[in-house]
Amino acid sequence: MRKPVIIGNWKMHTTAVEATDLLADLKNELAEVTDVEIGVSPPFVYINTARDILKNSNIKLGAQNVYWEPAGAFTGEISAPMLKDSGCDFVIVGHSERRHLMGETDEMVNKKIKALLNTGLIPVFCVGEKLEEREEGTTQTVIRKQVESGLDDIPVEKIKEIIVAYEPVWAIGTGKTATPQQAQEVHSFIRQLIIRLADAAAAEEIRIIYGGSVKPDNIDALMTEPDIDGALVGGASLKADSFAKIVGFKLQ
Ligand code: 13P
Repeated sequence: MRKPVIIGNWKMHTTAVEATDLLADLKNELAEVTDVEIGVSPPFVYINTARDILKNSNIKLGAQNVYWEPAGAFTGEISAPMLKDSGCDFVIVGHSERRHLMGETDEMVNKKIKALLNTGLIPVFCVGEKLEEREEGTTQTVIRKQVESGLDDIPVEKIKEIIVAYEPVWAIGTGKTATPQQAQEVHSFIRQLIIRLADAAAAEEIRIIYGGSVKPDNIDALMTEPDIDGALVGGASLKADSFAKIVGFKLQ
């Protein structure tokens, strides 16, 4: 049985005061949750604050990016050992905003995933097609390339530790969610790819979560699909009550 996982991606939002308030509210509101794994990923500068507030809570801490070298002359970058040292449990890599706005390539994503696994951090590995790719009918080709390149040369026993996030680019921040059926189709396709890249047991175990305009009013239907194991939530993770409602989803 795969434990559902709901992760908030705060992106480049919040001030120090807002971050502190949001973390304290989430810690309170979600204290009783045991059947869902919960994570938040604030901006780098608030990670130490978040570690202190979330201490002894059921909320895991993550970052939104990482550089693949452990240390060195890489001005402005943050390494996996630094994030581990700062109390992180997971790190988002390959987010479409990094791929399309910052020029992150499949090869860079692959190096980042390897660095995280070597450091004992869980990669939340994002993949997703653009609107024109969906309209051209190349969604599966795009997803296959992203998944195969991202997981290139990663040992079979490590693959199941990764959380894959399917985030169709056209659904991010647009209010336009993929229908549960559209998402399920791609999640099932990714699980089939994992059978080939690892094995059937890893494919059964690996968690594949959906991201793109997830809200309290669409999470229940998404979570009812057999291959959707959770959500990566942007905008709706910035308010404690909407994020708590998403974590409290009901299967339909
Ligand atoms: P929104 O939930 O704001 O659409 O963002 C999704 C996302 O990119 C999460 O990583």
